[in-house]
Amino acid sequence: MDVIIDAIFAILRAVWLMVPMLIPNSAAVLFGGGTAIDFGRTMKDGTRILGDGKTWNGLIGGTLSGMGLGMIQIIIMNLLDVPSWTYGVCVPSTVFILFLLAFGSMFGDMLGSFIKRRIKVARGAKAPGLDQYDFLIGTLILIIPLQWAWFRANFLDGVYLVGFIGLIILIPIMHRVVNIIGFKMGKKDVPW
Ligand code: CTP
Ligand code: MG
Repeated sequence: MDVIIDAIFAILRAVWLMVPMLIPNSAAVLFGGGTAIDFGRTMKDGTRILGDGKTWNGLIGGTLSGMGLGMIQIIIMNLLDVPSWTYGVCVPSTVFILFLLAFGSMFGDMLGSFIKRRIKVARGAKAPGLDQYDFLIGTLILIIPLQWAWFRANFLDGVYLVGFIGLIILIPIMHRVVNIIGFKMGKKDVPW
């Protein structure tokens, strides 16, 4: 029984610590629009670098939303007296980790669009796998080399690895639920 409870807590903790990574893509839908990050430019293959689905407003709004939510999480966990469910050991490292989680998420989303355009998948069209995991991959690309100790201590060591695996399994489910909500709210053109 204890093992199951430990595993459930590890998964909850992994999801909680990854909130600054999970939020930016949804926030980008709310804040997005306006100038495209690629300024409308195409590559030699004749297709847009990223496409009109990636805008500066979305990138900045998404990154700041993720970081802002992370700060609110820190306040909540300090009020609840659970400092181990927060980020980093000092203010600079906390801000840096929040930045890597939130910006990394948007970076992965851009990487996903870059790949989609190169293989001629139109803006907004499905790319199974890439759509669900691009933001996690983007975050890992930044966090593993730049905050390895923090990542290992919170997602790989001991039972925390169970949490990380649980997070990986939950991501496509959360992605689907959020996109259906966005579609119903009229914020997204397609429910994926
Ligand atoms: N969005 C944005 N800026 C970003 C990311 C997202 O403005 N950096 C907004 C866009 O309005 C986009 C919507 O959020 O259409 C949904 O994001 P996403 O599904 O990632 O983009 P798609 O339109 O599906 O384009 P792509 O095929 O490139 O993924
Ligand atoms: Mg999409």
